[in-house]
Amino acid sequence: MTAQMIDGKAIAAAKRQEMKTMVAELKSEGVVPGLAVILVGENPASMSYVKGKIRDCKEVGIYSRLLRLPDTVTEAELLDEIKKLNEADDIHGILVQLPLPEQISEQKVIQTISPEKDVDGFHPTSLGRMMTKQDSFVPCTPAGIMEMLKAVHVPIAGKHVVVVGRSNIVGKPASLLFLNHNATVTICHSKTTPLAQYTKQADVLVVAVGRAGLIGAEDIKPGAVVIDVGMNRNEKGKLVGDVEFDEVKEKASFITPVPGGVGPMTRVMLLENTLKAARKINQYRKAHA
Ligand code: GUN
Repeated sequence: MTAQMIDGKAIAAAKRQEMKTMVAELKSEGVVPGLAVILVGENPASMSYVKGKIRDCKEVGIYSRLLRLPDTVTEAELLDEIKKLNEADDIHGILVQLPLPEQISEQKVIQTISPEKDVDGFHPTSLGRMMTKQDSFVPCTPAGIMEMLKAVHVPIAGKHVVVVGRSNIVGKPASLLFLNHNATVTICHSKTTPLAQYTKQADVLVVAVGRAGLIGAEDIKPGAVVIDVGMNRNEKGKLVGDVEFDEVKEKASFITPVPGGVGPMTRVMLLENTLKAARKINQYRKAHA
């Protein structure tokens, strides 16, 4: 079997096209959705991600404001900037690019962002709402994975989903989201042994570890759906995922490439969350005018 590739780049491009209309509709009601992005320091990967996010905003008509701070910034200074953005009427979503320098507590930063503007979906309020199946901002990578599976009509309910990785950004929220969609979920991590015993049982395998070559053809079940969240540079400097794409594609039914798979979907879900935040704030204002 040769797997069908899930083209995240194309799915995301189509979604951005749809979003242009939705953004224009909101603008006709007098609201321009606005996203603030805070970038601390000069981490090249973070700089590149942020540049992409700003470019995406421009494409769909979302206003964006980039705030760059030196990596010597104090926690108090950063929290003050967030508080100002919490109060800013032209900003509906706030994203602080992670990781942050050592002197700053990521949790304090996340918890200072107003839950109404938490477009990353990392605030305990968002996560708690998701855990209890209430409407919430869903972290962008898990949300993007769901959208890709929907786009290629892969059913989730009743399937065994194995998530490798338990980060707060991907693994844990993805597991919860699959559970909310009635999957049976297994979460694996660095202490899971033997990993292959679990991954081989997956109908849908989500790999979010950050180690090139972690999953080979021998680690999956024939016909599995394989979602690769990894982003690694191999010895030739080429961008690769956690999955041995060439061999796994011969055994899987669906597979996401790296690059061009989960990455573009993560980016487009940030735009969706920003639009959702702008709509909610607009509705609240209309109701209380
Ligand atoms: N760093 C890597 N991924 C992300 C993300 O989704 N959001 C934020 N804020 N920082 C990140």
